[in-house]
Amino acid sequence: MNDYKRHLITAALPYANGPVHIGHLAGVYVPADIYTRYLRQNGKDVLYICGSDEHGVPITLKAKQEKVTPQDIVDKFHTMNKKAFEDFGIAFDIYHRTSAPIHYETASDFFKKLNDKGDFIEKTSEQYYDEENQQFLADRYITGTCPHCSNEKAYGDQCEACGTSLSATDLINPKSSLSGNKPILKETKHWYLPLDQYENDLKKWILEDHKEWRANVYGQCKSWLDQGLQPRAVSRDLNWGVPVPVEGADGKVLYVWFDAPIGYISATKEHTADWEKYWKSDDSRLIHFIGKDNIVFHCIIFPSMLKAHGDYILPDNVPANEFLNLENDKISTSRNWAVWLHEYLEDFEGKQDVLRYVLTANAPEAKDNDFTWKDFQIRNNNELVAVLGNFINRTLVLTQKYFDGVCPEATDLSEYDQDILGQIEEIRARVEKSLDAFRIREALFEAMGLARLGNKYLADTEPWKLIKQDENRVKQILNVCIQISANLTLLLNPFLPFSMNKLRGFLNLEEYPWDAIGNISLIPAHHKLNKPELLFDKIEDKQVEEQVQKLLSTKKANESKEKELPPAKQIVNYEDFTKLDIRTATILEAEKVPKTKKLIKLKVDTGLDIRTVVSGIAEYFDPEQLPGKQVTLLANLAPRKIRGIESQGMILLAEDPSGKLIFISPEDKLINGAEIK
Ligand code: 2FM
Ligand code: ZN
Repeated sequence: MNDYKRHLITAALPYANGPVHIGHLAGVYVPADIYTRYLRQNGKDVLYICGSDEHGVPITLKAKQEKVTPQDIVDKFHTMNKKAFEDFGIAFDIYHRTSAPIHYETASDFFKKLNDKGDFIEKTSEQYYDEENQQFLADRYITGTCPHCSNEKAYGDQCEACGTSLSATDLINPKSSLSGNKPILKETKHWYLPLDQYENDLKKWILEDHKEWRANVYGQCKSWLDQGLQPRAVSRDLNWGVPVPVEGADGKVLYVWFDAPIGYISATKEHTADWEKYWKSDDSRLIHFIGKDNIVFHCIIFPSMLKAHGDYILPDNVPANEFLNLENDKISTSRNWAVWLHEYLEDFEGKQDVLRYVLTANAPEAKDNDFTWKDFQIRNNNELVAVLGNFINRTLVLTQKYFDGVCPEATDLSEYDQDILGQIEEIRARVEKSLDAFRIREALFEAMGLARLGNKYLADTEPWKLIKQDENRVKQILNVCIQISANLTLLLNPFLPFSMNKLRGFLNLEEYPWDAIGNISLIPAHHKLNKPELLFDKIEDKQVEEQVQKLLSTKKANESKEKELPPAKQIVNYEDFTKLDIRTATILEAEKVPKTKKLIKLKVDTGLDIRTVVSGIAEYFDPEQLPGKQVTLLANLAPRKIRGIESQGMILLAEDPSGKLIFISPEDKLINGAEIK
């Protein structure tokens, strides 16, 4: 731990246009929460700041789609996400929002200060404009053909088919995603932050002075800096956001990535009148917990803003995580491919710590990782239940059984016992080293080492076999186990706050600070323990299968949605249509065509005659189920030989989204030969 006087921990402000999911928890909020709890247990002066990011174009589009106001959208998700975080024990000091008046004031003042100092460049350029919606279009809301690979669905900022970065004006046949119309080019003025002017300072500050930053963060910054920084627009033409506080800037708001990080400042202001000492003194340490897609904003753009302003400290570290995937697929809100926090709690009531544990044990710190329900079950059953839970349960149950729940006195501990207890301090040192370096996943593994140690000690000493002949030895063993349990409540508290609170209850133990870890008489002899319950329960196969099934249904629904309809055909005139002789017919007989996979030979009654038709439906229908079925037939299709059989017409079928063929049959039974016109 370092000597800073106070710590300001920020966690990326999630957009308030959807619920939060496990990717959010794993990437940002759980690691930041663990780190904050660790600092708090160390008695540090720490603030943990978060809130909703309530601006940006996607929120306005969602409001439009749902025919409500953007404020309705953000109100809904702000309330929902605040609750979800509380439910998971994410202990923010404040969960603020960027639609609050104090935020508008703070962001406006920030902009004005930079504007008054002449820090911005004002530039007029031509941008795409949707005339029907009377709105300039963000690059993401323009699609068209990629000039490099001809993908017809490229976005105005990037072609996802060939990966090229684009400008909206590069697109061939640009189309507005709002109206579907071709946008026009229109002049507009914006304010730009000249990032190039901060480039040298940033290079020194990051590349020389912060070599300790995570490799992914350092690497991304280096690549941005090596490419050379360009001025960045910090305003947008939009009617949702913080208005640009300059005369004549009607219809313009601050770019969401300009106002959102200022949201950390306004949240601190809202929380405490003493906010300036956290933001403006060199003995405060600012840490931004974020996901990897936010690196450039927190390491390059926001620091440039802070530097330009001049009064603020810069972040000392930005421990960005990579992404968490779900069952081998990218988490996606629009495809509903996620485990939503509120839904998790409906299915796994009271198991917040299990999710916190699994997401930390498998945290995407150095590379993208995958969450699978199987791994969730295995980690719960093999680690939380079989190691931690088992050790605690055996310790407490044996103490109840042999000593009526009273901590036995232990005298003359053996060298072995002393060695075991001595390891607590070593484990603590390893956990600290990992946490101080933001290797949270490694820290959890080290902390669980104490539970593994206790479990092994119990298994090796087998007090249940000694109780009859050597009660004194059993007293020693259980005293050692009780001290380990008490130390575990402190060591695992940042990671598993709900369970450690429960365990403290079982042990009837008051709260101790972090530096009490290693104290081997936290629980004195004759101290009365409370009746224990199980700390963790097994997760059964059935529960996991239900979750996997839920995801499979989502996948199926997505596949149906994603399956494209065939393109529309050329216009034909009515005369062309009347040339087709389409009639009702009934299948009389059906048999598979030998040595083929798809073909069935049908005998059908067309009302005019009985004829043979060969149809490629064997993968979808059994021949036995077909006789009696009324269908439609293209009766005047020129006869064709298929596998040596003359087919006299064609049965009409349509394909459902999964590729299955379905007969086009009259709703009510008709005579055979009725004409379809
Ligand atoms: O990526 C996101 O979800 C952004 N809303 C994060 C903003 S972090 C900060 F700058 F406010
Ligand atoms: Zn392309």
